[in-house]
Amino acid sequence: MITLIAAIGKNRELGKDNDLIWHLPNDLKRFKKVTSGHDVIMGRKTFESLGKPLPNRTNIIITRNTEYKVKDCIVANSLEAALNATTDSNPYILGGAEIYSQAINIANILDLTFVDATLEADVFFPEIDLNIWKETSRENFKADDKHKYDYSFVTFKRT
Ligand SMILES: NC(=O)c1ccc[n+]([C@@H]2O[C@H](COP(=O)([O-])OP(=O)(O)OC[C@H]3O[C@@H](n4cnc5c(N)ncnc54)[C@H](OP(=O)(O)O)[C@@H]3O)[C@@H](O)[C@H]2O)c1
Repeated sequence: MITLIAAIGKNRELGKDNDLIWHLPNDLKRFKKVTSGHDVIMGRKTFESLGKPLPNRTNIIITRNTEYKVKDCIVANSLEAALNATTDSNPYILGGAEIYSQAINIANILDLTFVDATLEADVFFPEIDLNIWKETSRENFKADDKHKYDYSFVTFKRT
């Protein structure tokens, strides 16, 4: 069971200049809760944007650089190698755009936060083909003093 987890804007924006483009504390809290205890797989740029391994999770970093090493992390040279390296029956794929665009073809679940904003971005989540993906749950939240935009937690399962 492979899950892609991402927060995306109205135009599927993901980030800009190798960073996120919003600050949504409830999304970060939920991300931590959902992924803790699991293996998390991410591209080298996303890992470098985080700056350090995510605690309480086995971090698997994908790069084509065969010399790349990071303390306490597993390094894999392809998405397939990353999936071979995991012993978790439900690993989470954390992005970024390059990795999502490859992994959406093999994922079973999309765990998405839809952010009700249109923002400048240089990386985007791939198109979600609704002939393939069926929405199975949704929770909607309004903007508040800690969250600049409305947002929704939405799960899709492969049909
Ligand atoms: N909104 C969200 O939920 C979310 C989540 C994650 C990331 N982001 C944002 O997304 C951006 C980063 O995404 P990105 O697309 O630029 O980078 P990325 O997907 O994180 O990493 C790309 C790197 O992964 C490696 N890679 C990709 N495909 C590979 C393959 N098949 N085999 C081996 N290595 C492979 C390459 O590393 P090497 O160059 O080292 O070979 C490539 O440069 C940032 O702005 C970040 O903030 C947003």
